[in-house]
Amino acid sequence: MTRAPAPAAVLAVPAALDGLAAYAAFTYPRYRPLLGPGTVPDHTLPQADACFAVTAADGQGRPLGLALAARTAPREGRLLSILVAAPWRRQGLGRRLLAAIETAAAHRGLDLLTAYYNDGLKGRPALEALLAAAAWSPPQTHEVRLFGRASFPARAEPDWRPFLRRVEAQGYSHSLYAERTPADEAAVQALCASDRVEPRLRPADWLVRPADPRVSILIRRHGAVAGWVLGEPGQDFDGIHYTLGYVLPSLRRAGWLIRGLWEVVRLQAAAYGPDHLAVYETNGENTPMIRVMLERLSPYAERIDAQRVSRKPLAP
Ligand SMILES: CC(C)(COP(=O)(O)OP(=O)(O)OC[C@H]1O[C@@H](n2cnc3c(N)ncnc32)[C@H](O)[C@@H]1OP(=O)(O)O)[C@@H](O)C(=O)NCCC(=O)NCCS
Repeated sequence: MTRAPAPAAVLAVPAALDGLAAYAAFTYPRYRPLLGPGTVPDHTLPQADACFAVTAADGQGRPLGLALAARTAPREGRLLSILVAAPWRRQGLGRRLLAAIETAAAHRGLDLLTAYYNDGLKGRPALEALLAAAAWSPPQTHEVRLFGRASFPARAEPDWRPFLRRVEAQGYSHSLYAERTPADEAAVQALCASDRVEPRLRPADWLVRPADPRVSILIRRHGAVAGWVLGEPGQDFDGIHYTLGYVLPSLRRAGWLIRGLWEVVRLQAAAYGPDHLAVYETNGENTPMIRVMLERLSPYAERIDAQRVSRKPLAP
C-alpha cells in the first residue's frame, strides 16, 4: 500500500459528538448515529452524553482518524472504536489517538478502559499490535457466539435422541418463561437471592430487551425450577439471541443447558420458521460450555466467532 506523506495531524477533543458527522466513516455503522445531530434511536447504544472522542484532522480540517469511547460505569469506560484513514497508517497516528483518548478518559475520572472486538475483525492484527504497544492487557476471549438456523433441533434429533432421553430420565421438563406462576417466580427469586446464580445470569439483571415469550423457557427438574434459557430479538439481525442460559450448579456438565437450548430453538422453528437465525453466546471463561459448543453444536452451526477483550488501567 502506498502511504501518504506524514501529515501534520491535529488532534482535538470535541466538547460534544453531535458535530462529528464528517467522521462517520471512521467508526462502525452501529455507532454512526452518535456522531450526527439528533437523538440516538437505539437504546442499546451508549447515551450520546456518555460518549467522548478524539479527532485527528489535517491542516485543512480534513478527517484523518477518530477514537470513540463511552463511560459505562462511574469509573469505567469502553473504547468503542479507533480508526485511522488507510493512507496514514503506520505513522504513529493510531498511537497518538489512543494516548489522547486514554487521557480524555482519565480527565473524566475513569480509571479503566476496555476494548471488545470480534476475532474476525479485518484489522485485528493491527489493533492488537497497537493496543499491546500501548500497554493494554493481552487479549482474552470474552464471549463465544454460535450462529445457526432454527432447523437445528430437527436435524440433530436422530443423533441426539439417546442424549435427549437420558436428560429426560433425570427429571428434565420445561415450561414457557412467560407462563410462570407466582410460585415459579418466587422460586426464581429465591434462587437469585442465593449464591447459586451468578449475578450476570439472573433474569432480573437481564434488561436489554424483553425476553421473547415464544422461545424463553424455565427448565425444571422433577417439576421444580432448575434453570432458564431466555432469548431476545436480535439487535442487528433477524433472529433470536439467546443471551441468558442458567442451570443449577449440580446439573452442569450433564447436558441440561444443551437440552434446554435444543428446546428453545425447536420452539423458535415453530414460531418463526426453520430458517430463522439462532445465536447462542457464552462467557469466554466458561470453557466446558465452549467445548460443548465446538464439539457438539458446531456441526449444526453456520459460524462460530469469539469476542476478545483487552483492558487498560489508567493513571489518575
Ligand atoms: C488499528 C489502527 C487504528 C492503527 O493505527 P496506526 O495509525 O496505523 O497505528 P500506529 O502507526 O500509531 O502504530 C502504533 C503501533 O501499533 C502497532 N501496529 C499498528 N499497525 C500495525 C500493523 N498493521 N501490523 C503490526 N503492528 C501494527 C505497531 O507496534 C505500531 O508501532 P510501530 O509502527 O512503531 O511499529 C489502524 O490500523 C486502523 O485504522 N485499522 C483499521 C480500523 C480497525 O480495524 N480498527 C479497530 C477496530 S475499531
